Amino acid sequence: MRTNRILVSACLAAVLAGCTPKDETEKKIDELLGKMTLHEKVGQMNQLSGGAWLVESAAKGEVGSILNCVDPAEINAVQRAAVEESRLGIPILVSRDVIHGFRTMFPIPLGQAATFDPALVEEGARVAAREAVSSGVRWTFSPMLDIARDPRWGRVAEGSGEDPYLDVQMGAALVRGYQSEGLAACAKHFVGYGAAEGGRDYNSTGLTERALRNTYFPAFQAAVDAGAMTLMTSFNDNDGIPSTGNRWLLKDILRDEWGFDGMVVTDWNSSGEMVAHGFASDLKHATELSVNAGVDMDMMSYGFIGFIEELVAEGKIKESQIDEAVRNILRVKFRLGLFDNPYVDENGVVAYDEAALAAAKQTALESAILLKNDGVLPLKAGRTILVTGPLADAPYEQLGTWAFDGQPEHTVTPLAALRETFNVIYEPGLAYSRDKRTDGIARARSAAARAEAIVVVVGEEAILSGEAHSLSSLDLQGAQSDLIAAMKATGKPVVVVVMAGRPLTIERDLANCGAMLYCFHPGTMGGPALADHLSGAAVPSGKSPMTFLRTAGQAPMYYNHNNTGRPNTGTETLLDDIEIAAGQTSLGCTSYYLDSGYGPLFPFGYGLSYTTFEYKNIQLSATTFGKDDTIRVEYDLSNTGAFDATEVAQLYIRDLVGSVTRPVKELKRFERVFLKAGETRHCSFDLPVADLAFWNADMQYTVEPGAFQLWVAGNAADGEALNFNVE
Ligand code: BGC
Repeated sequence: MRTNRILVSACLAAVLAGCTPKDETEKKIDELLGKMTLHEKVGQMNQLSGGAWLVESAAKGEVGSILNCVDPAEINAVQRAAVEESRLGIPILVSRDVIHGFRTMFPIPLGQAATFDPALVEEGARVAAREAVSSGVRWTFSPMLDIARDPRWGRVAEGSGEDPYLDVQMGAALVRGYQSEGLAACAKHFVGYGAAEGGRDYNSTGLTERALRNTYFPAFQAAVDAGAMTLMTSFNDNDGIPSTGNRWLLKDILRDEWGFDGMVVTDWNSSGEMVAHGFASDLKHATELSVNAGVDMDMMSYGFIGFIEELVAEGKIKESQIDEAVRNILRVKFRLGLFDNPYVDENGVVAYDEAALAAAKQTALESAILLKNDGVLPLKAGRTILVTGPLADAPYEQLGTWAFDGQPEHTVTPLAALRETFNVIYEPGLAYSRDKRTDGIARARSAAARAEAIVVVVGEEAILSGEAHSLSSLDLQGAQSDLIAAMKATGKPVVVVVMAGRPLTIERDLANCGAMLYCFHPGTMGGPALADHLSGAAVPSGKSPMTFLRTAGQAPMYYNHNNTGRPNTGTETLLDDIEIAAGQTSLGCTSYYLDSGYGPLFPFGYGLSYTTFEYKNIQLSATTFGKDDTIRVEYDLSNTGAFDATEVAQLYIRDLVGSVTRPVKELKRFERVFLKAGETRHCSFDLPVADLAFWNADMQYTVEPGAFQLWVAGNAADGEALNFNVE
């Protein structure tokens, strides 16, 4: 007690004297900063791409970080120049896009989100970090936290999908996983990048402050709270202001509101691109705007190294601003222990060890979503099956986007894995996903005559999703739908497996198969995971992290939208039923498409199993709650089918009336529940009323009293609402 009082008064004295007590790291930073010339400070703010050729810049102290070098010997060479030859010996921060694994590739992040299993995702990040760090990489540009509601945008592959709560859980798990193994995380892209107009990459966004706060900020704030050491600005201009020049975002929100003390890096040349945006007149002006907005490090515009000294001399940037940036950079280097141990052990590289492969397989297992099963799955082991489709044996493609360091020779493809369990006839049908030639389809068709069932592996080549890979049609490319239809025409049971970077529009293909398993790009161990699912050695449990659309024209469509004043009634007339010369108001005047109706193909959170689940006796601990209360939701979950399996139980709420309109549903909790066939378990969720808060009409984060609804169900469209009030 007494010690506490002494400590408090010591702190108070320090604060009153105008200086807060600093920990050892801060003292070291100050000491180093005191010795640095402006040129050396600017050098720290400069990030360059490449490897050994950067030795000279490192020796001159003109580079603080490098990206895209993963060769341990080259990394050590650059590091040696920085540590042993530069005047102050400040180590280099080596970075890389380690997005879903380093060597051992895990499913793409969107697939990882489909697991609804943050603990497993965290373990995957630990594996990725162990492999990357063993090669000398100490900073990854992950997690990507951009809310993605438009599957035309190719980068939906890299994030956790459309829901803020799932994004928060996955993002924080990734940050914890990477950083626990010494790999600094980077929360990106701050902010709104995923809302690109029309789903065209890099496009403008027009998000209001409330939309940012309610939907786009939470995962970034959670990443900051989880200790994310760095953050990246986004390419887009939002409401006319490019993020890289947005002082409100980078200072008022990030530093002042959230207390972020890590480092902010631009995206690749996003500072320079403010010239093309028409926000800066030239690179020098862009540099001034970026630094004054609060950017610490420049990725590849060369503007910081080129112009900061001049800008300081002209009084356009204060040197105190530069000091702040350099402090943020050095803090990351100290936190990573780079000053104590800058080198990588060139003989200590780890990759593809047993634990890594097991974690990658488990993630691939949990990320696969069963969209349809008329009883064809599982297939009995040992049966003769035709394996066809352009992705059945495409070791590079199944790794997905941003798989720079994954080596396809380590990939186990569906074909290789299925051969272990089944008697396989292989006829690819198409050479690659965009292949339009149909001669191979004829060969697959005749091969089908010898098979008891057909497995068609289709989807997208890796290059069709990811950065700058937007699409305006989301149908299967090439002749893949024809291949599926041709297999259906054989009369044999058809299982379609989709490996893709986004939810595609697969309605036509669903009609042409008995079962469909959606695996996203599943990574190195995608094949073995698929073989387990098809044979019934494992049961699918993935749930969709994004709404599946019927047509690309429905985008953006997401479950947690606000209501219109004219919500659909489910009785609307569709195109073919409209009478000729119908009256203007005869269709009901509600919000829907004449040709594709109102709803999606599959809602958020959707995914079947080989068994069936039933939710019963859902009960709330009260009907009225105070703002400080916790709502206890109890329910019985039964496995009513014949397979032991896992269900992802989901809790949604709706705030019925607000000072601003509220989403029709919002995910607030989820849990993976494993049940033996026939088992019933009594389960519960605890939901503090405080978690019902949102940014209201007065831009206050608060719970507004009133009526709410709550669901516990297996997806966003199921279940019966329970009612409660908050006083
Ligand atoms: C991407 C970032 C990535 C960076 C470095 C950019 O083009 O937008 O997400 O981290 O390149 O490779």
